[in-house]
Amino acid sequence: MTVVHRVLHPSPITSLAEYLERGGGKGIETAAGLRPQRIIALVRASGLRGRGGAGYSTGRKWQTVARNRSPVEPSTVVVNGAEGEPGTFKDRTILRINPYQVIEGAMIAARAMGADLVVIALKRSFEAECARVRAAIEEITAAGWSPGTQLEIFEGPDEYLYGEESALLETIQGGYPFPRVSPTFRRGVFKLSVADADESHDGARTGSSDVHTTTSAAAAHVAPALVNNVETMANIPRIVARGPQWFRTVGTKRAPGTLVCTVTGSTRVQGVGEVRIGTPLCEVIEAIGGGPRPGRRIKAVMSGVANPVIPAALLDTPVSYEGMAGIGSGLGSSGFIVFDDTVDMVAVAAGTARFLGIESCGQCLPCKQDGLVLADLLAKVCRSEGTDHDLAMIRRRLVTVTDRSRCYLATQQQNAVGSILERFAEEFAAHVEGATPPTEPLLVAELVDIVDGVAVLDERHRHKRPDWSYDEVYSGKVPAESLPGTPAPWRT
Ligand SMILES: Cc1cc2nc3c(=O)[nH]c(=O)nc-3n(C[C@H](O)[C@H](O)[C@H](O)COP(=O)(O)O)c2cc1C
Ligand code: SF4
Repeated sequence: MTVVHRVLHPSPITSLAEYLERGGGKGIETAAGLRPQRIIALVRASGLRGRGGAGYSTGRKWQTVARNRSPVEPSTVVVNGAEGEPGTFKDRTILRINPYQVIEGAMIAARAMGADLVVIALKRSFEAECARVRAAIEEITAAGWSPGTQLEIFEGPDEYLYGEESALLETIQGGYPFPRVSPTFRRGVFKLSVADADESHDGARTGSSDVHTTTSAAAAHVAPALVNNVETMANIPRIVARGPQWFRTVGTKRAPGTLVCTVTGSTRVQGVGEVRIGTPLCEVIEAIGGGPRPGRRIKAVMSGVANPVIPAALLDTPVSYEGMAGIGSGLGSSGFIVFDDTVDMVAVAAGTARFLGIESCGQCLPCKQDGLVLADLLAKVCRSEGTDHDLAMIRRRLVTVTDRSRCYLATQQQNAVGSILERFAEEFAAHVEGATPPTEPLLVAELVDIVDGVAVLDERHRHKRPDWSYDEVYSGKVPAESLPGTPAPWRT
C-alpha cells in the first residue's frame, strides 16, 4: 500500500469529541507531564524535518527558539498555513480533514517554548479552512483544553511571500509580506505591550520593521517566534504520545515519517495523499495522480517552483530529502507538478519566471528587476520571437538575480528556471530556430482548490501586476516602494 494514514485521516473528523474518541489528545496529555526540555528532546530524537519546504530539523529549530527566549516577553508559536507554493494543496487538505491535530501540535509547541500565544496563520481567501479552524478553536477553548495559551487565527493576504516565515510575522504584526533581515528566532511578533512602548515602530509605514527598530529599547525585548508548517505541527502529537521510535518506524534514517504529497499537472487525476518518505516518485505519481494520461508519457516533474526540474529518466528517485538532493533537486513542500510530452518546457520556464518576478517584493532590486526581465525574455522565446542573444541575456540575468538577496525567492529563479534551460536546452533552441510553434507562457500560480480530482489554479494571477495590484496599467513601482504608507486590510 503506497498511501498511508498517519497525518491525513481517511475521512474528516467533525468535532473535538470525535477527535478524542479516535485517540486524539494523548500528545498534549503526555506533554503536560513533561518539562519543556524533555518535549524538545523527544522532537529532536524523532528526526522530524519541517514540511514547509526547507526540511530543517524541527527539534533543532525548537531548541534554538527556546534558547533565544526573551526575559521579558513570552514567545509566540505560529502555524504557517499560508500554503502558496504552486502545486501544493496538502496543508489545506490536512486542515479540512482534521484541524484538531494541528492545533494540538501547536499547543505542545507552546508548552515547549513557554509561549502564551498560538497564531494559526491562514489566508483570508481560504474560507473553508478559516471556518474549520475557527470552529475548532472555539471548541477547544470551551473545553478548557488550552489553559494559559491563547489560540488565534490570522487571515492574511494571498501574496506568495506571505508564506516566507519572517514575512509572515511581519504581516501578522500589521505590515506587508516583506521578508525581514532578522531570523524568527531573534525577532518574533511585537506584542502590544512592547509595541505601545516603542512609538518608532511602524512596519506598514517603513517596510520591514526590523530594519528600522533594531536599535530601539523595545526591540531588545521582542521575543522570538517559532514558525512551523501545518503538516510539521500535525506530526507532533503522536511523536510525543507514542515516542520517537514509533515515528521512525516508517521513512528513512535521515528523514523519518511520512509526507503528505500533492500531485497535479498532466496526470489522470489530481489530488493529495500521504506516503512513506522514501517511496519512489513514479509510485507517488501513480498512487495519487493515477499516472500519466492515456497514451501520454511523463517528460518532467517539478516540486513547486523552488527546486530544479526532475527529468523523466529520474522518476524512480525516492521521495526523500536526501533522494531529491542526490539528483540535484529538492523536495520542497512535496507538491509535484507533472508535465507530459505535450507540454512545452519553455512555456513552463516562462510561466515560472513570471510567477516569481511578479511575487518578488522588490526590497532587493536585482531579484525584482532581473526577475521581470527574465519573465519578458522567456515569454519572447516562447512566442518564437527570441534570438540567441536573448538566450545569452537570460543566462546572464540568472546569475545576477540573486545579488544581495534577502530571502530564497531569487534563488528559486536560478533553481527552477536555470535547470529547465539546462535540461531542456533543445526546446529553447527549437523556439529560437522557429522549428516549434509559438506558444504562451504556462499559467504557474497557486492552487485555489482540488475538486473531484481536478486542480483549480488561481486564474487571477494572469492579471496580477508586478506592484501586486490588478490595475489595468502597471504603475512601474515595486511593492516595497508602493505599498508602505497604504493601509493593509489585516492591520486592525
Ligand atoms: C518565497 C517563500 C514562500 C514560502 N511559502 C511557504 C508557505 O506557504 N508555507 C510554509 O509552510 N512555508 C513556506 N515557506 C517556508 C517558510 O519560510 C519556513 O521555512 C517554514 O514555514 C518553516 O516551517 P517548517 O520548519 O515546519 O518547515 C516559504 C519560503 C519562501 C522562501
Ligand atoms: S530576495 Fe526578492 S522576494 Fe526576497 S526580499 Fe529580496 S526582493 Fe523580496
